[in-house]
Amino acid sequence: MRLPSRTGAVTVRRLAPWLACLAWAGQPAHLPAHLPAHLPAHLPAHLPAHLPAAACVAPTRAIIPAPVSVTPLPGCFEVSAGTIIAAGRGADTVARQLADLLAPATGWRLRIADLDAARGARIELRLDASLDSLGPEGYRLDVGPNGVTMRAPAAAGLFYALQSFRQLLPAAIERRARVRGVRWTVPATRITDRPRFSWRGSHLDVARHFMPVEFVKKWLDLMALQKLNRFHWHLTDDQGWRLEVPGWPRLTEVGAWRRRTLRGPYTPDSTTWQWEDRRHGGFYTADDVREVVAYAAARHVVVVPEVDLPAHTTAAIAAYPALGTFGTATEPQAWWGLSQDVLVPDSASLAFATDVLAHVLTLFPSPWIHVGGDEVPMRYWAESPRVQRVKQALGLADEPALQSWFIGRLDAWLAARGRRMVGWDEILEGGLAPNATVMSWRGTSGGIAAAQTGHDVVMTPTSHTYFDYYQSRDRSAEPLAIGGFLPLDSVYAYEPVPAALSPGQASRVLGTQGQIWTEYIRTPKEAEYMAFPRLVALSEVAWSPASRRDWRDFRVRLGVQLARWRVLDVAFRRPVDP
Ligand code: ACM
Repeated sequence: MRLPSRTGAVTVRRLAPWLACLAWAGQPAHLPAHLPAHLPAHLPAHLPAHLPAAACVAPTRAIIPAPVSVTPLPGCFEVSAGTIIAAGRGADTVARQLADLLAPATGWRLRIADLDAARGARIELRLDASLDSLGPEGYRLDVGPNGVTMRAPAAAGLFYALQSFRQLLPAAIERRARVRGVRWTVPATRITDRPRFSWRGSHLDVARHFMPVEFVKKWLDLMALQKLNRFHWHLTDDQGWRLEVPGWPRLTEVGAWRRRTLRGPYTPDSTTWQWEDRRHGGFYTADDVREVVAYAAARHVVVVPEVDLPAHTTAAIAAYPALGTFGTATEPQAWWGLSQDVLVPDSASLAFATDVLAHVLTLFPSPWIHVGGDEVPMRYWAESPRVQRVKQALGLADEPALQSWFIGRLDAWLAARGRRMVGWDEILEGGLAPNATVMSWRGTSGGIAAAQTGHDVVMTPTSHTYFDYYQSRDRSAEPLAIGGFLPLDSVYAYEPVPAALSPGQASRVLGTQGQIWTEYIRTPKEAEYMAFPRLVALSEVAWSPASRRDWRDFRVRLGVQLARWRVLDVAFRRPVDP
């Protein structure tokens, strides 16, 4: 049960900066045609919307996550029908992505040419080994009145240069049909950038409520805009199994559908529960998954699948009751909270798990495979004669040892196939498997213990990264949620490296990730409302140097971002005081 453990305090903040930047974000669409090229770059954020300079200079403070270094320069570059995209070797994919970005709204499909062939006003993209010190995701972006240069040591960096360039263009560039009367200008600037963390994640639970492929692709687009690079796809849980698996047809025939759903508050007294008596479900075919994985890869996002084992498996047990400790469920669970019925940790369950994972490996090239490992109700294992016989046959002392044995087998199985196992921090109990990466969700102690013993860690504590928690103290003003309270400024203030770690141990912290659990999030729009802008605040935590974090400046940049989300049809929550 993912009940919140924290109701943090928050300082009351004033609304005024939001209002100012919102006004500024609504840039005028009809600017005079002949903007001088030498406009000052340092105009105040609260520039009145009617100044002709606005289209050129206003968005300088626009990029989220904040780059390592930004130097505004005089003037601006204007994209026109004659602009050429000059692509060096290895830059052709990003060149096409740039042309695709610009074409619908401008109405111009810009010509892509070789670096040597292109003359005139151009946007140059090239791989540059002299920038190797920026790492595989770093980049340099130079915008001047006469041209733009994007350079990076590797393709991912070029892609991120493009995302920064995109955020400097007027928001109308995101329209998918021609927009007239906009000057497609970008303020002159020099940006040098690289991420602080390699794991900049977004988790989406599609088990409690199924989310269609089209929405998953939109989610990936929104992640890429913010330079997020790990999509943790929570595919199975008590309430639904979402992955078609050859040889196990009932997983999706039975496990993907439930007759009804708990809609009201989840209280201890089940007689008060309110039901929606409507069938809910859905699942992904292998082709659906391939489409999502390819779409993500084109945006430099790794899709990390999660098959939650051995608990959170009611949907699988409803399909194949012999796998369960009790095996009594006939359909996926319709209410929230923990089921008593989890896999028996025996060789039959292992055969099932490895069969499923073998299919997962064919679909997901990710180096990391998530096997859950959270919230096994040990009490029920202790009460089950069948589980006790397994424990005795293995000569194990207690239930945590049994869980550790089961997870350890999966770890070894994945390692033998060249993949790394990821699990929630419960996998520490009873002894951590040798190759495991730990997601620390019940606070930070699991992450600290894992990093101190040489394991990789992704920091995902409920206190700062559970975006299914309320965004306001006034719950009546918000959609019904699982509980908790996690306002935007708390997310923004998060520091993923616990102070308890030495510098060597700290290097085990791969990064951080925002969680969207969907018990009370029924639709894509509701998921957007809970994730945005909190996920974007976390993108800055994950990408930008700690020294670049500045809450006031972030709020100004977020104002620009809101205009972009309006065009992209993102149902964000207005960032007002909680
Ligand atoms: C979790 O929220 N049970 C990982």
